[in-house]
Amino acid sequence: MVNVAILGFGVVGSGVAEVLTGTGEGIRRKADDLLALKYILDVRKFPDSPFAPCFVQDFSVIENDPEVQVVVETIGGMGAALDFTERALKAGKSVVTSNKELVATHGRRLLALAAEHQAVYLFEASVGGGIPVLRPLSECMAANAILEICGILNGTANYIFTRMVQDDIPFEQALKDAQAKGYAEQDPSADVEGKDTCRKLCILSSIAFGWHLLPEQVPTRGITQITLADEAYAAACGRRIKLLGRAIAREDGTVCPYVEPHFVSQEDPLGGVEDVFNAILVKGDATGDVMFYGKGAGKLPTASAVVADVIAAARKLERASYRPWAPNRPEAVASPDTLATQWYVRLAQGELAGERLTIPQAQAGESGWLTPAMTRPELDRALAGKDVLAVIRVLD
Ligand code: HSE
Repeated sequence: MVNVAILGFGVVGSGVAEVLTGTGEGIRRKADDLLALKYILDVRKFPDSPFAPCFVQDFSVIENDPEVQVVVETIGGMGAALDFTERALKAGKSVVTSNKELVATHGRRLLALAAEHQAVYLFEASVGGGIPVLRPLSECMAANAILEICGILNGTANYIFTRMVQDDIPFEQALKDAQAKGYAEQDPSADVEGKDTCRKLCILSSIAFGWHLLPEQVPTRGITQITLADEAYAAACGRRIKLLGRAIAREDGTVCPYVEPHFVSQEDPLGGVEDVFNAILVKGDATGDVMFYGKGAGKLPTASAVVADVIAAARKLERASYRPWAPNRPEAVASPDTLATQWYVRLAQGELAGERLTIPQAQAGESGWLTPAMTRPELDRALAGKDVLAVIRVLD
């Protein structure tokens, strides 16, 4: 029997407890004879919870209990989560997490620490919620050189776009709904400002390219400026707006990572991804395009990925461990300013070279445009002196 401790009893942590003990709706544990939930660490008290006997408030109880072999970190953030992860690994306990901020920033060091102490550090739930993507990318696509990763990686942002378009509701209302459904981060600015997508892109890229890409190396733009007018212009040219994280491998050995909203064709598989779903397109040199698709946020999808990792750690599968990440390579990070694409531009006044878009609800004088392919610095020169309301990259 393998004893498990959960750190943090929030949306994901409570889902993990339910799934592990078989009380969860919709998912049943697959390792009844293998796993036992021994502790839940939280600063809050839950006297009415069915898990009340498991609660502790002092991490050293878990750290010093030799019966605990697997620790689930669902605290989030970088403070206590980092401290407890390091201490658990140093005590030889495997750690499973959904904490993308921690993995994106400290993944290389924590993977090495786990290996040093004959433990594993697993984080399938940190990217794509319930979608199995990290282990397939790491193992099943191991024979490929990865040419590009392009993904809808934030369920909250995608849910907001869907509600805005389908229900014609404003951004703030759609965000409130996403929070109520347990999709958004504790601080939802990470979702809508693109930081969550950035962290997930760093984790995918570090696995795909084999060296640790850091969040501060990824130019990141979120979705807070997107309006219903921009959505209407997108529809006018057969497109949808999607927040994408992209990392493109170049022939010179550099990688161009960035996070931005994009106009995506409705014909493109990414253009049809709605609601809380995520989709991750991985281009391998042997496989061609491979698409991973599923629910990217929410209590039970995320708990499903966490518990699968707990089972893998409990079985001490050597293969469960990711390959170590080589150190960061600042010289190998290319700027998206070098990337020539079409652009959507909304002007308050005036004209622009390119295809003019029209929508019935346009304000007087306002116009939408699709430019020819050009880099962002070239676009900025073309827009100098113009009254610009919005600029969004078009996915080619
Ligand atoms: N806030 C995240 C999202 C949760 O909306 O995608 C899953 O990582």
